[in-house]
Amino acid sequence: MEAELKRLVMRSPFGVRVEKPKREGEATLLYPFEACIAWVAACHHRTSSRISWDLCSSTAVRLEPLFDDLLPALLSDDRLPGGAPLRFSVEVGPSFDFEASPLQLRGVVKNAIVETLASRRVASEVDADSPDVVFVVRRAGTPGARRTVVGIDIGGGPRHRRGARVAAGPAPLRETMAAQLIMLSRWDARTEPLVDPMAGGATIPIEAAGLATGAAIRRPSDLPQRHLAAFKDLPREAPDLFPGTVPQIAALDVDPETIPAMVGNLRAAGLTGPAYEVSIVIAQYDVRELTPDYIERMLPAVREMRPGVFCFNPPYGVRIGAEHGEEKLLALYSDMGRAFARFRGWRAACFVANPHFVEAFAHAPTMTKPASNANLRGTFLVFQL
Ligand SMILES: C[S@@+](CC[C@H](N)C(=O)[O-])C[C@H]1O[C@@H](n2cnc3c(N)ncnc32)[C@H](O)[C@@H]1O
Repeated sequence: MEAELKRLVMRSPFGVRVEKPKREGEATLLYPFEACIAWVAACHHRTSSRISWDLCSSTAVRLEPLFDDLLPALLSDDRLPGGAPLRFSVEVGPSFDFEASPLQLRGVVKNAIVETLASRRVASEVDADSPDVVFVVRRAGTPGARRTVVGIDIGGGPRHRRGARVAAGPAPLRETMAAQLIMLSRWDARTEPLVDPMAGGATIPIEAAGLATGAAIRRPSDLPQRHLAAFKDLPREAPDLFPGTVPQIAALDVDPETIPAMVGNLRAAGLTGPAYEVSIVIAQYDVRELTPDYIERMLPAVREMRPGVFCFNPPYGVRIGAEHGEEKLLALYSDMGRAFARFRGWRAACFVANPHFVEAFAHAPTMTKPASNANLRGTFLVFQL
């Protein structure tokens, strides 16, 4: 997450630097607020699952004291939207260590917001279906020093929803996970081919194409920023941050039924047509047969192929693969390991939720990082082949 934001902000038109963030738990980075950096993150950042502009927090674990803390904090906060009538909603994250239900917690935060807006003569209405602004509530901090944090969602909701996928394969990888995987592979889009040999619905190739050109995943006009004074002088459009990059991406899968899904998803993401003919190729192919010669022939713009990266998530035997039995799955992993041994100098990065993968694949990872894909615990692995 951190490396991606730094890279994007450096290419943005704002001439600012990103400060080092503080860490909050395993999955949250806290940055001092800077509107233009928040704008870049909201429009372009692919690896974050949510972006909140934190407003206030309270250590209270009961409803009345929480209200008593939040109301004065919000009343004196000039960052809240003002002027026009406002439709808003409140979303509460996991709150098992708060001494009331998530519904009650949401009700208290909602009441504090309504009262604050009313004190500024802003008419407000709770509207979960089409809110102008979504307030997010999360429990944060270390054990013994936990807080309830209230913020404004400035990232346009859960960010794995890119709005492009029209057909999901049987076990799709979340878009945010796919972007993390590519970042972990340290792919250089200007010089290295990227191959997803088990592409399913092409989630990874689509994310790769977006990371290569720095394409936005949210339009400024779709973000709540238009209701927030802090963002009023920021651009209305979010053009590519790395225009002109022509990546070399191959999306392969052994299952012929995935091909129409890949084409549909690439089309929905705006990644088909003459501009992409030399950049993103699709084929039905068995990963066990892969050779560097085949990849070189597949990628039309590669004149002299350099080592590249494989990014993929193999079947784990949970949602798919189980029907074939663990033995067949392990045989597939070990055949893949043999096929990848032909690609000396390449890197391979995968997300896998099968604990026997590394042993069967028979390459030692240079990096391992635990992660979850839609409640499935697994590991990111990177290999130098
Ligand atoms: C977990 S899914 C990948 C999901 C994909 N990343 C997505 O987001 O849609 C694994 C894929 O591996 C493919 N696969 C299984 N055996 C294969 C093989 N021998 N060669 C190539 N692809 C294979 C399956 O058809 C399936 O699409």
